[in-house]
Amino acid sequence: MIDSAPALELRGITKRFGDLVANDGIDFDVRRGEVHALLGENGAGKTTVMRIAYGLTQADAGEVRVEGQPRIIRSPRDAISAGIGMVTQHFALVGPMSVAENLALGRSRGLRLDLAAARRRAASASDRFGIRIDPSLRVANLSVGQQQRVEIVKALSRDCRVLILDEPTAVLVPDEVNALFATLRSLVADGLSIVFISHKLAEVRAISDRVSVLRRGKLVGTAAGSTDERELARMMVGRPTFGVERVADGAAPSAKPILRIRGLHVAGANDLPAISDVSADVCAGEILGVAGVSGNGQTELVEVLSGMRRPTSGSAAVSGTELAGADPGQVMRAGVGRIPEDRHASLIGDLSVAYNLVLERLDDFGNGGRIDERRIRAHAVELIRRFDIRAGPDDPVATLSGGNIQKVLLARVLSRDPRVIVVSQPTRGLDVGATEYVRSQLLERRADGAAILLVSEDLDELIALSDRLIVLYEGRIVGEMAVADADPEQLGMLMAGRGRAA
Ligand SMILES: Nc1ncnc2c1ncn2[C@@H]1O[C@H](COP(=O)(O)OP(=O)(O)OP(=O)(O)O)[C@@H](O)[C@H]1O
Ligand SMILES: [Mg+2]
Repeated sequence: MIDSAPALELRGITKRFGDLVANDGIDFDVRRGEVHALLGENGAGKTTVMRIAYGLTQADAGEVRVEGQPRIIRSPRDAISAGIGMVTQHFALVGPMSVAENLALGRSRGLRLDLAAARRRAASASDRFGIRIDPSLRVANLSVGQQQRVEIVKALSRDCRVLILDEPTAVLVPDEVNALFATLRSLVADGLSIVFISHKLAEVRAISDRVSVLRRGKLVGTAAGSTDERELARMMVGRPTFGVERVADGAAPSAKPILRIRGLHVAGANDLPAISDVSADVCAGEILGVAGVSGNGQTELVEVLSGMRRPTSGSAAVSGTELAGADPGQVMRAGVGRIPEDRHASLIGDLSVAYNLVLERLDDFGNGGRIDERRIRAHAVELIRRFDIRAGPDDPVATLSGGNIQKVLLARVLSRDPRVIVVSQPTRGLDVGATEYVRSQLLERRADGAAILLVSEDLDELIALSDRLIVLYEGRIVGEMAVADADPEQLGMLMAGRGRAA
């Protein structure tokens, strides 16, 4: 069959938020029976442009065409009647209701739901699209992967011909990703068109026919889905990237321990120790990587080093100042900077970037008992420039993309020049560009003589950045080695609790 007009076409879409141009004249189209990926760094404008196509936001300029016809789309209702469906990053399901009830919502005119019809429709949608879900189950009891399937069936059962999926794999485990991809393949074989938003290169290559890349609100280009990863990464960030090769070269660490951990024991739940007899040194100019499957004592170790948890015995000292039993303020004053795993928990979303940057040290910005707003703002303007944060000082942190949120945290911690940096999962969920930036900042601190303890589940990251590694398993150090001697297979064995290094 020859299809002259694309199923969905966006022409010259422009969208501004204040001074920020989130979308700058974007042209994009998806053909019938095609998966077209939309790739870009955090904050590139992917979600915004597709929210426009689905009527969740209005464009300042540009046109949406469906099967060749210009359409005015003011709401999701308009989009649905034009045959466009979208599964957003955060699902819009009602937890206490069943799958069938959720599928019926938005269809019923009055308040009463026709449950029997809803159940039939759910069953027939599941059959038609080959997506298995039990219509009588409560949504709140489903796994995230199952909820996603309900969202997809909901969109399909409204007869959409174009399905937009916003980072659908972000919440899935690898098996669920494979199942999703199999579903998507069979849907496009039946003529559905899919827009697949992602910043994961491997996935984009695995599923898409074509890829369009956005960078800072602009369309960089559209390429074949088989384009190699390096090329796609280059389009995405505008420069070559690290890959997984080792980047922490340069001067060898000093032999001067800054952080000294001795015989640390931490009690855990159920009488099992969370940490048993952990001892380690981190020297000036050194990154010590902590490898391990999560839940093997990493969190507790970081909490002790941050003054958030008391060990049962043992010591952790920074140049002679004891951290065990200290509170977070004392730990900070001892020169320890902490970049936690849960970014959102240590920032206040409703507060501005400027205030979040000084949250831990409001006292330093006082002026005779009053807060000096002008100094806070000037401080923010300076850090925004130094740390390349793509936001304004007055923007609420909640409106920032993931990469920019991490940059705010980095700026807050690193601007104090900590001698010891305790950092967990620093690049989790970040795209290539933000990842590269965060890593380069840590390496710069290493070069400046900071002692860095890096906890990560990403072995490639540990190998790329660390000088030495320790492996934690059930709260004990089961292996210790220079990164130069690390063998991924042996590391994997140690992490799985198979054997102990000599
Ligand atoms: N409602 C809003 N108000 C102000 N700024 C916004 C709003 N929505 C998005 N932005 C900004 O627009 C830019 C593009 O955001 P968008 O969410 O489209 O990016 P994205 O490519 O989807 O990023 P991510 O990979 O982090 O999801 C970002 O700088 C973001 O902070
Ligand atoms: Mg997004």
